[in-house]
Amino acid sequence: MRLGLMASGDGSNFEAVVRACRQGPLRADVALLVVNKPECGAMQRADRLGVPVQLLDHRLFASREALDQALIETFRSAGVDLIVMAGWMRIVTTVLIEAFPERLVNIHPSLLPSFRGVDAVGQALAAGVRLTGCTAHLVTPEVDAGPVLVQAAVPLLEGDDHGSLAARIHRQEHRILPLAIALAAARLRG
Ligand code: GRF
Repeated sequence: MRLGLMASGDGSNFEAVVRACRQGPLRADVALLVVNKPECGAMQRADRLGVPVQLLDHRLFASREALDQALIETFRSAGVDLIVMAGWMRIVTTVLIEAFPERLVNIHPSLLPSFRGVDAVGQALAAGVRLTGCTAHLVTPEVDAGPVLVQAAVPLLEGDDHGSLAARIHRQEHRILPLAIALAAARLRG
C-alpha cells in the first residue's frame, strides 16, 4: 500500500507513520509528503528521513477547491492508495473527499465528537473535563465528524497546562495513527 501524507506543522505524526512503515508494524510505504507551508518542520523531517516532499503553498491557489485539485493530481501521479492528513491545517472540500472516498484519514487531538475544530486541547482545558484524547477517523464533508477508526483516552493530570496535555495527546496520536491506517486499508480490502 502506498501512502500519501499531508502536513502543515511540526510533522511528528508524519514521522511516526514513516517509522511504523520502516520498522514493520505497518505494511505500507510513504510515497510522498505534501506540505502547504515552506520550511515547516514536517518538510525538514521528510528531508532527514529521505521521503519525497512536495510544497503546495495554499497562498498561491485562488480557492480551497483549486488547492484540493492540485492535491488530487499530485497524489494520483504518485500512485497513492490512501491519504493521511497528519496535521493538515486547512479545511478540505468535497473535491478532495470525493476523489478519494474512504481513502482519506485525519487525526484530531480530542475524543470526537467532543471539541471539534481549532485548539481542541485548549477547548478540553476550558471545559474542565477529566478525560480527553485523540481520534483517527475517515474524512467526510462535515469537519472532524467522519467514522471513527481508533481513539485513545488521555486523562488530565493535576497541574496540567496546554503544553503538558498536548504532549501526552501527541504521544497517543503517534500510537493510534498507524493502527488507523491499517484499519482503513483493511476496510478497503473488504
Ligand atoms: C496533531 O495534534 C493533530 O491531531 C492535529 O495537528 C497536530 C499535528 O501535530 N490535527 P504534528 O505536526 O504531527 O506534530
